[in-house]
Amino acid sequence: MSQMDDNQAIASTSDPLPWGTLWGIGVGPGDADWLTLKGLRVLQSVPVVAMPQGHNGKPGMAYGIVKDFLSADQLLLPLSLPFVLDAHTLEQAWQAAAVQLVEVLQTGQDVAFIAEGDISFYSTFTYMAKYVHQLAPEVPIQPIPGICSPLAAAAALHMPLAIADETIAILPALYHVDDLIQALDWAEVVVLMKVSSVFPKVWAILAERQWLDRASLVEWVGGQQQTLFPTLHDLEHYQPPYFSILILRRTPYGF
Ligand SMILES: C[S@@+](CC[C@H](N)C(=O)[O-])C[C@H]1O[C@@H](n2cnc3c(N)ncnc32)[C@H](O)[C@@H]1O
Repeated sequence: MSQMDDNQAIASTSDPLPWGTLWGIGVGPGDADWLTLKGLRVLQSVPVVAMPQGHNGKPGMAYGIVKDFLSADQLLLPLSLPFVLDAHTLEQAWQAAAVQLVEVLQTGQDVAFIAEGDISFYSTFTYMAKYVHQLAPEVPIQPIPGICSPLAAAAALHMPLAIADETIAILPALYHVDDLIQALDWAEVVVLMKVSSVFPKVWAILAERQWLDRASLVEWVGGQQQTLFPTLHDLEHYQPPYFSILILRRTPYGF
């Protein structure tokens, strides 16, 4: 080894390892073919794949979508991110998950955090990125967008989500029925995420306005269990699953 090589070796043993990159990959809402080319390329290039853990302690929906693209030598890092509303519990879970991510990133390994749908649309990735950045501002963070569920649901229903000068209201979760009534007054298109828990109330409001034929429900869009209800007429006592989305178009438009 030359003198110069020797010096480089000494320097490299004392230098801290460069941080790994935290990738956020939106894997789409159900159909694995909806993963972007960039998402797939990065997903297959990283040594560690992190994901929200499902209710049963196993990797959740995002993992189910991309599992066939992963290889056996990639490490899976399921993170416990509970489905609760309590802000303190959530904060603690996000912090703990971010610590787990930082432990890997500081070894210089890249991590892809996969999330269902798009990673900037009501996604846990936002919190992961925030807390990782707080713990280790040096970590490069690279978000890769994905198809979000309202876009996929509109396509499944063969309708535009919005055209011309239409306005859209997206309600992430309906905690107060007044929010829906207000949105119905100004938006031509209303999208209700997480509609399952309030479906009977929503049904009653739409029935009262005689708009049951203008609203559609899409369950598990892109997945094997995908189910479409183009109108809500027969759904008075129906209980949709968590992965369902309602789209109301005041002016029906299909193709
Ligand atoms: C926490 S949000 C996640 C949104 C996701 N990041 C996206 O881009 O669509 C979860 C809600 O999104 C909707 N959703 C997500 N995936 C869905 C799917 N495959 N089919 C129907 N609705 C879905 C449901 O309303 C669900 O309650």
